[in-house]
Formats: sequence, C-alpha cells, structure tokens
Amino acid sequence: IIIAKDAEQAASLVADRFEEVLRERGTEGAVLGLATGSSPVATYRELIARHRGSGLSFAAARAFLLDEYIGLPADHEQSYHRFIRENFTAHVDIPDQLVLSPDGEAPDPRAEAVRYDASIAEAGGVDIQILGIGANGHIGFNEPSSSFASRTRVKTLTEQTVKDNSRFFSSPEEVPIHVLTQGLETIREARQIVLIATGEGKAQAVHSMVEGPVSAECPASILQMHPRVTIVVDEDAARHL
Ligand code: GLP
Repeated sequence: IIIAKDAEQAASLVADRFEEVLRERGTEGAVLGLATGSSPVATYRELIARHRGSGLSFAAARAFLLDEYIGLPADHEQSYHRFIRENFTAHVDIPDQLVLSPDGEAPDPRAEAVRYDASIAEAGGVDIQILGIGANGHIGFNEPSSSFASRTRVKTLTEQTVKDNSRFFSSPEEVPIHVLTQGLETIREARQIVLIATGEGKAQAVHSMVEGPVSAECPASILQMHPRVTIVVDEDAARHL
C-alpha cells in the first residue's frame, strides 16, 4: 500500500508499474488490463506523456477492458469502448484492433461473456491490471455479493452505482442497468494488479478492502488473496486506514 502525496504522484507510481511490465515483456507483447472511470485517467495521461516524451512503446501490447454497458452502441459517448480510446489508447501506438472489450451490443450477452473470458485466456492472461474501486467496494462492475469464483458475466447495477455513474449521463434514467463485467476470479487471474483510489469518497471502501474481512460484501477484498497487488491511494482515500 502506497500513500501518495497527491493524485499526480499516485498516477506516476502506477505508470511506473506499467512501464516496467511493458519493458519486461518487450517485443513479446504485454497484455494490459485496462479500466474506465475517473480514477485511472491521470495514469493514462502520464503514460501518454511518457509515450510522447521518452518513446515508451505500446506497439507490441494488447489490452482487455474490464467491463461494458449493455445496450450502448460502441460509439456512444459513454460506452467504455469509446472512453478508453478517447482517454488513452488512441493517443499511444497500441494497435486499435487489439484494444478489446466486451461487446455491449452482442445479441446474446451471456454467450458474449463466455467468448470474452476465453479470449483473455487465449491471449495468455493479463500481465498487469489497473483497477479503480466503487464507493461500495465494487471492482469492474462486480457489485457487493458477487461470487469470488465469478467469471465474465452479465450483472445488474445497484441503485448506488447507477447514481454514482449518472454524473456522466444527462439523466440517471439514461444509465444502462445491465452490464458485462469480468468476474472476480477473472480479475484475480491477472499476474499483477494495481488499484488506484483518490478522494475521501473512497476512504470507506479502501478501509474495507484492506482491513476488513475478505467478504463478498466488499468485492475488492478479494485482492487480499492475490500475491502481487499494489494499492495506491492519496491521503484522503487513506483516511480510515
Ligand atoms: C465504474 C467502473 C469501475 C470503476 C468505478 C469507480 O463502476 N466500472 O471500474 O472503478 O466506476 O469509478 P471512478 O474511478 O470514476 O470513481
């Protein structure tokens, strides 16, 4: 657990981990696990700066997103497909067709979940996964009570998450309530995980994740069982530790 002095330092520490993995995997190609939400955006900005400044290359990498809304077209302003391109991958040299996410428009979302989960395994698994955390302790869209053994699947969002995410939509009614998300077991299979949380709104979730019992009530507490996790928080998010 690293308590950074501010959000900028937090982003730089997480970017360091990504840089290490990209350099280690070299031309073999790192498999990156990417997340949406506001928490990782500063890290993406830092990685873009390193790409432009010191030539950090993503050319051999591929990426898998954690989750996607069901029913939003891929080019919808709030689809995670579009979010990750606008905030990160379109600005570095990763091949666009290797930035993968669950297809929120697939006619059979359950079959799509199984296909997507298998495609991660076929790529050799994720080398480094970046995560944010929801105020209720969710990771990806694994809401409280999600099974620790869960794989990629369809989930229904809690009222709280719909409310939290409605800030990105013009009204809460527009937020899709069904999503496709990597499961907790799928996420746990990443070889290294870096979770970033900033601001007082995350302090309770960070406390439960780190110091609470390993419990489905706080899905992120599964990270206590993972051998290689770095949690980077600012002082506000670390308030209850
Ligand atoms: C969404 C995403 C999560 C993210 C969470 C927190 O629910 N599915 O991956 O961690 O929001 O978002 P933010 O970082 O904007 O607080």
